[in-house]
Amino acid sequence: MARPSGQFDDAGLSPDLAIGVFDSGVGGLTVLDECLAQLPAEDFIYFGDTAWFPYGDRSDLELRARAEDISGWLIGQGVKTIVIACNTATAAALTHLQTHLEIPVIGVMSSEAHAAVQTTRNRRVGLLATEATVRSGSYERMIHAHDAGVELVAVACPRLAPAIQAGDPFDDRIVEMVRDYTAPLRDADVDTVILGCTHYPLVERLLRRNLPNTRLIKSGEELARELRESLARKSLLRNTAAEGRYQFACSGDPDVFHTLGTRFLQMPLGTVEQVTIGA
Ligand code: DGL
Repeated sequence: MARPSGQFDDAGLSPDLAIGVFDSGVGGLTVLDECLAQLPAEDFIYFGDTAWFPYGDRSDLELRARAEDISGWLIGQGVKTIVIACNTATAAALTHLQTHLEIPVIGVMSSEAHAAVQTTRNRRVGLLATEATVRSGSYERMIHAHDAGVELVAVACPRLAPAIQAGDPFDDRIVEMVRDYTAPLRDADVDTVILGCTHYPLVERLLRRNLPNTRLIKSGEELARELRESLARKSLLRNTAAEGRYQFACSGDPDVFHTLGTRFLQMPLGTVEQVTIGA
């Protein structure tokens, strides 16, 4: 996408620039999907780090360095803000990117934590997330910043995102997996559950069946709302009736990303560019 020649503010940003979004794979498409619906005039560049998938069992150090490299590439494409559409990368790298980059960076997590605290009535909240996200304790801290009396029951689901990313989310193996991972939440009698990995809304129906009478909090909806508000306050929101464009890049096989992405986003992806970032 060519850098537009519109009005630029002191930070060199203009409403005409695109929004950069990244995730380890196709999970972030659940966030992009909401952003496309809530911000139809904006251009988006989505990067799926499929060669590095899964992020869930990587160290914070690795994830921070990787997030920095990806952000550098997105900034080179000309973006006005970066969205980390991945809970694992947000937990490991959001603060780092916000401290080191000159453009705004938004992550998932904080708005879901807030929404969960507002939603729960019995003040018992469940969390399903990757091992790295659970280990970081970030959700616990954010929830307790809003209400120290809310109990968080966190369940690490190391096999779930890889099974979804493998592309066959509706086989018996996944049904069994979802049943097992949700069992501690049913036992704990939580009334609200945060889907703390952007891949999980892709099996939302299975999750709902196993978590009856619970409200599910998803990253996409909350993030898109926060992004819209943040762009508006910074006067970076596009004020046009024209429909924005979107484009995709990934670090792994672009054909695999294209097939999976089309299935999950249910929209045409166009050409997926394969990009090598960092070492
Ligand atoms: N989609 C990513 C998240 O939200 C995780 C998947 C992975 O392990 O890479 O945490």
